[in-house]
Amino acid sequence: MSTLLTGIAELVTNDPARREDQADPGDRLLGIIRDAALVVGDSVDGNAGGKKVIEWVGPAADAPDADNRRDLGGRAVIPGFVDSHTHLVFAGDRSAEFAARMTGTPYDGGGIAVSVAATRAATDDELRALVAGRVAEMRAQGTTTVEIKSGYGLTLEDELRSLRIAREFTPHTTFLGAHVVPPEYADRRADYVDLVTGPMLDALLADGLEASPAAYVDVFCEPHAKHAFDEDEARTILTAGRERGLALRVHGNQLGHGPGVQLACELGAASVDHCTYLTDDDVEALAAARGTTVATLLPGVEFSTRSPYPDARRLIDAGVDVALASDCNPGTCYSSSIPFAIALAVREMGMTPAEALYASTATSGRSLGLDRRLAVGEPAELAVVNGPSHLHLSYRAGVPLVRSYEP
Ligand code: NIG
Ligand code: FE
Repeated sequence: MSTLLTGIAELVTNDPARREDQADPGDRLLGIIRDAALVVGDSVDGNAGGKKVIEWVGPAADAPDADNRRDLGGRAVIPGFVDSHTHLVFAGDRSAEFAARMTGTPYDGGGIAVSVAATRAATDDELRALVAGRVAEMRAQGTTTVEIKSGYGLTLEDELRSLRIAREFTPHTTFLGAHVVPPEYADRRADYVDLVTGPMLDALLADGLEASPAAYVDVFCEPHAKHAFDEDEARTILTAGRERGLALRVHGNQLGHGPGVQLACELGAASVDHCTYLTDDDVEALAAARGTTVATLLPGVEFSTRSPYPDARRLIDAGVDVALASDCNPGTCYSSSIPFAIALAVREMGMTPAEALYASTATSGRSLGLDRRLAVGEPAELAVVNGPSHLHLSYRAGVPLVRSYEP
């Protein structure tokens, strides 16, 4: 069965092959087709992971026939957002910590222990229901692909079950046993690093973590945060993960200047996330790592911690690959909204609307090893904007304008 989608005022393809005729730099980056049509068919050989597949893309005037037709009424169609950084497996509530921050209490990561205690106390079914609710919330806002980290268990059993539950929702999972040193290891940090790099990694790999198409190890490398990891500890953890065949992600340079960005670039991480405080050397290292290491900016965090926003313009102008993601988590940003991140990036970080959309689809996808474009043969991972162009995503900030779309 095939379905022809018409009434597409603007189609964002992210396809470089569509760039030629575009004068506007934003349209060129996004490979936009106006008055477009799409034909979507059933996946024949399973190459789209059971998803429907794009069979034809182009101007509506040239569209072929199909079994069914749907008119989208003059809306914009974009690639579904790839939220490449989330911590969805947690229980408990930290809204009071947020309220305290809004009146001046700084964020130092100390609240992570509150979420760890609540997560350990939750049953599997409670955690599963919480993740399901958050994933549904994301889909309702245009996200079609999500990465999920562990990191609120911090015992072997609780990290294992966090990742098992995460894998029920996505193939893109990340082991963040090195989120912080848990309270029971406060006086013996080295023992905790040994647990993460030894028994925890062994158990996760035996459980099939590496069988995932994308499996990562991550570390919160931050000298300014309570109980996070220093450069040597982070290097030990990342290297151990890499030796076991995992790809790398790093939480770095979130709360102040630190070693995370340089370490991520040196070790060839797929992504270094936050990048709020950067020296010229950090920017240079990221530019040199282009094609390997993506800088993933998480502006919901700066909003929610009352911190200065990262300078996306500086990074893009230096030639760095910049992605945007939500960082949805109970502490620094309990927002699952990519449109919110886009609006902040455009208003506060010097990104154009086109750059922000590309960053939250193509580049965030690339950091997970995905090619997120709307082209023949690709999975039909679509979102529909209730407006005539992608500009409405930030122009109409705060309005629930975009949802993921299953043709
Ligand atoms: O990505 N920075 C480290 N981890 C999370 C926040 C964790 C929390 O406060 O619960 C982040 O911001
Ligand atoms: Fe995070």
